[in-house]
Amino acid sequence: MILKEEILREKLPNHIAIIMDGNGRWAKQKGKDRIFGHKNGVAAVREVTESAAEIGIKYLTLYAFSTENWNRPSKEVNALMSLLVSSISAETKTLMKNKVRLLTIGDTSRLPVKVYKKLEDIIKKTSKNNGLSLVLALSYSSRWEILNAVKNIASEVNRGKIDLNQVNEKFFSNFLCTKKIPDPELLIRTSGEQRISNFLLWQIAYSELYFTNKLWPDFKKEDFYAAILDFQSRERRFGKISEQVNF
Ligand code: IPE
Ligand code: IPE
Ligand code: MG
Repeated sequence: MILKEEILREKLPNHIAIIMDGNGRWAKQKGKDRIFGHKNGVAAVREVTESAAEIGIKYLTLYAFSTENWNRPSKEVNALMSLLVSSISAETKTLMKNKVRLLTIGDTSRLPVKVYKKLEDIIKKTSKNNGLSLVLALSYSSRWEILNAVKNIASEVNRGKIDLNQVNEKFFSNFLCTKKIPDPELLIRTSGEQRISNFLLWQIAYSELYFTNKLWPDFKKEDFYAAILDFQSRERRFGKISEQVNF
């Protein structure tokens, strides 16, 4: 746990988002089917959730299932849905013990009733927890989210409930699934792919991006700490010049 000790507590990101990718390739490398990879991905979810809670990260968002993932073979989609129910059930106790609050973003109405109910149940159960907020992106896509926001704002303008001049960045953010959740300072993607895949497009406007070749089931606490240390070594200028941010 040497890396963990190097992390500067005063420079911790508030919110880390992760595109958990590479389960299928991990399984293939072992001569197994893709579902075996997803099952082993659950352990990595546990690892990062635990480490985030331990070091005091406030928000951790995990991209677990995208809108586009509905287009995968139904056998895989079904397996992912069952895995979701079984892992949430198995983790409830630990989430409560670690004061983790569970939230979701995405079009959860598309999830099978059993999954939806289970999620609702645990969201309610953990709602008073004041430790880490664990945000699961499920049936999520950023373009869906942004379009939804635009439609809702347009409808309120139409009904005369709001004035178009009120619509600024803060106002718009409140129409996204992530309202009340700060933007992530750090976005991690595993598996070597360097793309965003329709994830948090609005929210990552100024996030630091971190790509690692590790496949998701191999992503361990040390990898998570390494990503945070990398983040802490960067200079975030937000359009200014170096001298302005190093006062
Ligand atoms: C990420 O792993 C998990 C989900 C998208 C649900 P993949 O299933 O995308 O694995 P690869 O990218 O095919 O290896
Ligand atoms: C992104 O991974 C979605 C999740 C991690 C849930 P994908 O594997 O679906 O993304 P692409 O297809 O490589 O862009
Ligand atoms: Mg993938």
